[in-house]
Amino acid sequence: MKLQLLDLFCCAGGAAVGYSRASFEVVGVDIDPKHNFPFEFVLADALALPMSFLKSFDAIHASPPANRIRTSPSATATAMNGPG
Ligand SMILES: C[S@@+](CC[C@H](N)C(=O)[O-])C[C@H]1O[C@@H](n2cnc3c(N)ncnc32)[C@H](O)[C@@H]1O
Repeated sequence: MKLQLLDLFCCAGGAAVGYSRASFEVVGVDIDPKHNFPFEFVLADALALPMSFLKSFDAIHASPPANRIRTSPSATATAMNGPG
């Protein structure tokens, strides 16, 4: 039986395809329906999913957007070096 992996912020499924090739059964979650995700897809806010749903998977992958880090040099420095 395949392990079930939940791919949060799945977008078009770049990571999901890798997990699928590694024999995971993947379910993707994204807030945007426009990406044509190639596996089972749930249209939802990844930050508002019920704990019971999250716990029903063997593994969870999450790759949220990193807008704050991309747009702010000081935020990048904080992320890399810690606050202060
Ligand atoms: C960096 S991309 C993910 C890339 C993807 N893991 C891959 O391998 O191709 C970020 C995705 O997060 C989604 N997103 C942003 N906020 C979200 C939220 N609150 N819940 C679910 N998806 C969200 C965006 O629609 C976008 O598709």
